[in-house]
Amino acid sequence: MTMNPKPSEHLLHALHAHQQQHRFISDQAICDIASRLNLPRAQVEAVTEFYSFFHRNPRGRFDILFSNCTSCGAIPLMNKLCEKLQVKAGETRADGLISIAETSCIGMCDHGASALVNSLTVTSLSEAMIEEMASLIEAETPVSEWPNSWFQIGNNIRKEGLLLSDSFEPGAALKAIAGRSSDEILDEITASGLKGRGGAGFATGLKWKFCRDAASDQRYVVCNADEGEPGTFKDRILLNSHADTLFEGMTICAQTIGATRGYLYLRGEYRYMLDALESTLQSRREAGLLGSDILASGHNFDIAIVVGAGAYICGEESALIESIEEKPGTPRIRPPFPVTSGLWGKPTVVNNVETLVAAARIALHGHQWFESSGTWQSKGSKLLSVSGDCARPGIYEYPFGITVQQVLDDAGAEDVQAVQIGGPAGRLIGTDHFTHHIAFEDLATGGSFMIFNHSRDLLEVVRNFTHFFAHESCGFCTPCRVGTTLLKNGLDKVCGGHGTAHDIDELKATAALVSRRSHCGLGMTAPNAIRDALKAFPHLFETRLLHQEMEPEFNLDASLQEARDLTHRDDAEAHL
Ligand SMILES: Cc1cc2nc3c(=O)[nH]c(=O)nc-3n(C[C@H](O)[C@H](O)[C@H](O)COP(=O)(O)O)c2cc1C
Ligand code: SF4
Repeated sequence: MTMNPKPSEHLLHALHAHQQQHRFISDQAICDIASRLNLPRAQVEAVTEFYSFFHRNPRGRFDILFSNCTSCGAIPLMNKLCEKLQVKAGETRADGLISIAETSCIGMCDHGASALVNSLTVTSLSEAMIEEMASLIEAETPVSEWPNSWFQIGNNIRKEGLLLSDSFEPGAALKAIAGRSSDEILDEITASGLKGRGGAGFATGLKWKFCRDAASDQRYVVCNADEGEPGTFKDRILLNSHADTLFEGMTICAQTIGATRGYLYLRGEYRYMLDALESTLQSRREAGLLGSDILASGHNFDIAIVVGAGAYICGEESALIESIEEKPGTPRIRPPFPVTSGLWGKPTVVNNVETLVAAARIALHGHQWFESSGTWQSKGSKLLSVSGDCARPGIYEYPFGITVQQVLDDAGAEDVQAVQIGGPAGRLIGTDHFTHHIAFEDLATGGSFMIFNHSRDLLEVVRNFTHFFAHESCGFCTPCRVGTTLLKNGLDKVCGGHGTAHDIDELKATAALVSRRSHCGLGMTAPNAIRDALKAFPHLFETRLLHQEMEPEFNLDASLQEARDLTHRDDAEAHL
């Protein structure tokens, strides 16, 4: 007997299906879907308005979203296609054939310029492909008949370490923990020193223990596969080639905390993997690795997949939970925290994909195998998604403690001006910090490692990040909703050559306010790139000002410490 926890039909899935068929969500569709799913009409409308992949006005029969990321962005190619097809970006052509727009990073940074065509991912775009694409669209050739090679997405694994080099037999980790108590499994995970790989780095064993010990008749395991931080694509590789290990990690977590249901929240941009993931789940059910009485352990557990719809904020764990609950992805007021009150108010573990893959491997090989790699505060390995100006973009797995310079050397990066560690929410560092280490105690990263050489206008890069946050702010709290737009406008003014020293002071004041007063991690980290650039690269701003000079001030170490303090404060608050 299987016990698939899939709810009748998830609202996000119903809206996606409708959007695919009718190209938009009309008032009537909202009423119909609300009535079919037995949800309030206002909820369906709010969800439709919240997620950027749903539209209230008709999109074209060919709907193309070009990434605007600094690594997989394709804006010049988007403009070329717009020109060829006589349509403005952000609009639908009068005959309804085509609509073209920008979207935030789609996680294809190792593949160059990329876009979503009717939700399917096309990578390595070139001028020649754009010419051909325009002809295919004008001829109304269905996307299913477009060249197959356009839709191939390789893994680009450049360096394998603890996780990637290890082969995995489905069920092996579950068999390894057979007969062990919840305490014994917790001890193993805790002793390994595993910390969350989604960014904040909270101790995984402790998170599982908090959840297990919270009084409740039901608990949940949620895998965060939202991977929306620009420049991050390491979870994509794990989902593509290590899904069995991931699902096994979720199952082990469930057995440890006493959960019978789990959810994989997959970002909408990774929809192309959905069928393969569903089929892996089905194989596991058939092999007795999911469902009732898993491997005769007496434990029942199954996993459902919920696919997001283009909202970076849904990577934040409480927003993700709201999204699974078929609501707009607005971060919750905390406390209570997910480990005590998560999905439908029940204790919930939310872990990143890489964390759960590592947990399965630790269960299989034991804690010593894991903790023998890395540094004293950062055990094990880290998958880095390396992109930008280098000869060999792709996935690099290192023991924690590797220096930035070593990664740059391995990736074939030359003439490097700066590296953005941890995506736009992370840190922008210059050459004097390339001896620093990738580790929770030094340069922490969820996985993004973006390289910029001297051919780049670094201020344009920072401007891109600032636009990203203004676009992705969910609007729930004023400091972030208004502040990210003020930062965007201020930087636009400076980049446009109209700024003065006063505008720089305003940028600094606004950045401080947004990072200190915002409700969630998005706002708290949104000004990081501007602040780092102002400190480490003041000349970038100075040369654009109308007439005044700025006071140079630079202490990146103090700034990194401040960021770590903020992260730890957030983390401690989140779990105490
Ligand atoms: C704006 C924002 C976006 C986030 N996006 C992700 C994400 O895409 N994937 C992820 O695992 N964690 C993301 N996080 C962190 C999650 O809130 C959470 O800490 C993490 O999923 C916990 O898993 P871990 O303990 O395994 O790291 C994000 C946080 C914020 C504030
Ligand atoms: S900080 Fe930004 S993203 Fe977070 S709740 Fe406030 S408005 Fe929303």
